[in-house]
Amino acid sequence: MTIHIGAAPGDIAETVLMPGDPYRARWAAETFLDDAKLVNEVRGMLGFTGTYKGNRVTIQGSGMGMPSLSIYANELISQYSAQTLIRIGSCGGMQPHVSVRDVIIAMSATTITSPSSGIFREVNFAPTASYDLLAAAVAAAKTRGTTTHVGGIYSSDVFYAERPDLDEQMVRHGILGVEMEAAELYTLAARHGRRALAILTVSDHLQTGEALPAEDREQTFGDMVEIALEAAFS
Ligand code: HPA
Repeated sequence: MTIHIGAAPGDIAETVLMPGDPYRARWAAETFLDDAKLVNEVRGMLGFTGTYKGNRVTIQGSGMGMPSLSIYANELISQYSAQTLIRIGSCGGMQPHVSVRDVIIAMSATTITSPSSGIFREVNFAPTASYDLLAAAVAAAKTRGTTTHVGGIYSSDVFYAERPDLDEQMVRHGILGVEMEAAELYTLAARHGRRALAILTVSDHLQTGEALPAEDREQTFGDMVEIALEAAFS
């Protein structure tokens, strides 16, 4: 048990999928895992452990934003020895060729700041995905025929942004989408020698204003979960 995770030491698998939403953790575990068992419900941040094609996997909610994800990822890494951490979440599309329902596999995650920024002082550290996971996820997405984009994303601290000029610079520099967690996950994985990847479904689009209808969210989210599971165990 840690401060924020009530699981017994052996209850967390070495592979952990991290959706922001704890209810999505439950849905994904019930839909894709065999023998899924609730292992954490501290603060309602549900976590489940089961198997996928015989491989042990935990699906643990991260909450929204980098400070929340940082708490769970730190405890999973330092106190439960998670080796592979894959964020599965949603993002806002930022390029005209990126559409709602598409999947983005994040090669890098740009930030203004993150919970880890303080340790880098004047250096702008470049949070980067683990290449083997990234390559495996791209292959799994191709096999499934999912429309997928691979490149840089922006991990923001705010959902309700007040700086349209910043979004403009991100778009100008080819950033595919905006979310709120991946950069800290990549930074923690780098620090502790673990594997990390963020796979994101485009749920809304900053330029077109299009948003994924609620009834489509489950199916689209499911594609992403399967890509993550295939990548983790390939
Ligand atoms: N901004 C930040 N995070 C998000 C968004 C967004 O537009 N959509 C989904 N996650």
